[in-house]
Amino acid sequence: MQTQTEKQTGTQWLAVLDEEARGLVAAVDARPDARRLLEGTLGAAGYIHYLIQTYHYARWSTPILAEAGHRLNRLGRHPELAALLIQKGEEERGHDRWLLSDLKNLGCSEEQVEAAARSPAVEAYTGWNFFTSRAGVPTAVLGTAYVLEYLSQTRAGVWAERLKAVSTIPNIHKSVTFLRSHGALDGDHVAEMQRIFERLTDPEDQEAILFSARVARSVYPRIFREDGATRHPLTR
Ligand SMILES: [Fe+2]
Ligand SMILES: [Fe+2]
Repeated sequence: MQTQTEKQTGTQWLAVLDEEARGLVAAVDARPDARRLLEGTLGAAGYIHYLIQTYHYARWSTPILAEAGHRLNRLGRHPELAALLIQKGEEERGHDRWLLSDLKNLGCSEEQVEAAARSPAVEAYTGWNFFTSRAGVPTAVLGTAYVLEYLSQTRAGVWAERLKAVSTIPNIHKSVTFLRSHGALDGDHVAEMQRIFERLTDPEDQEAILFSARVARSVYPRIFREDGATRHPLTR
């Protein structure tokens, strides 16, 4: 049985988490390439850059989530959150293949994508999330997942639709699988996490989740090109 104070605390930290999620959407919208995505006018180089950088973090989603879940179980803490992390690791399995397929339809081979330089934002994202998963507070990974799935629910489907309606990138209709699929799936995933988080009263885990949400808010928008970038996405 929760006390009234604990219930209020639960509501408060979830409101802060939602603020971080909305802050991420606003920070992404402020990036020129993301604004072009929303208008459907992003050119091939900018879209390829975005997909390649997304590949270089999304390919690690399953191990980051699953290792966090298994470590939480080993630590004997929050079995429900451990199960959620492991489940989310399974949900993310194969999403990197969608990116490779979209990129192939845009003329980028798997070898080229693998060899492409990772942006500092991708290095920071993978470094931070592997750290929390393997050596930090493992529930922190859920903060990253929450704000990115919120972004996905809010933007991925719209980006895919706008690109299909407006973009002149050759083969664009075959190159929005990653965006289209996430737009369709992640609304349910956000709702599920909200339900489970309502029962989380441990301040250490709340703080870890919020902190990772903030890291994602500051790092993730930087996977888009700086404005005016003219370098080809496949050159180092
Ligand atoms: Fe995914
Ligand atoms: Fe999801």
